[in-house]
Amino acid sequence: MTREEALDSVKDNVENENLVKHMLATEAIMRALARRFGEDEEEWGLTGLLHDIDVELIGGDMSNHSKLGADLARELGANEAMTRAILCHNPAHGIPMETRLDKALFCADPLTGLIIASALVRPGKKLAGLEARSVMKRFKEKGFAAGADREQISLCSQIGLGLDEFTELGLKAMQGIADGLGL
Ligand SMILES: [Fe+2]
Repeated sequence: MTREEALDSVKDNVENENLVKHMLATEAIMRALARRFGEDEEEWGLTGLLHDIDVELIGGDMSNHSKLGADLARELGANEAMTRAILCHNPAHGIPMETRLDKALFCADPLTGLIIASALVRPGKKLAGLEARSVMKRFKEKGFAAGADREQISLCSQIGLGLDEFTELGLKAMQGIADGLGL
């Protein structure tokens, strides 16, 4: 599967532009994490890009979320490691995260929301100029972007990253695709 094929499939299955942007942001962070750990950047990036592909197809039944997504990813040519990470990023299935890829996807997913929300409250609503320490401040405000699960983000410790480093890496990755995110 090429990246273009994966992105085409995302766009075929997802109407909500913000959800597409969330997946692009997750891809960017996953690519940066793969580079950081010397892992396969394409594998990690495409896992991030595809991870929520089924959200509009499951008719609100979150117990199905990521099962269908993993099947779609497999049909596109995703390998076992990728489909596994997609499947277990929804804890509803009770499949334990085992690999570094599983854990990376799980903690990168909510970081995108925290960073986007941190950008949107700034004058100009841009990612450019946003600093990691501002995102960290927002991290500590419980009521801010409450949907971005802080505990889940903090699981970056399980892939050997401190919260500061993870936030900085994620922010830089998203700043690198700011135009694509419209931020
Ligand atoms: Fe997600």
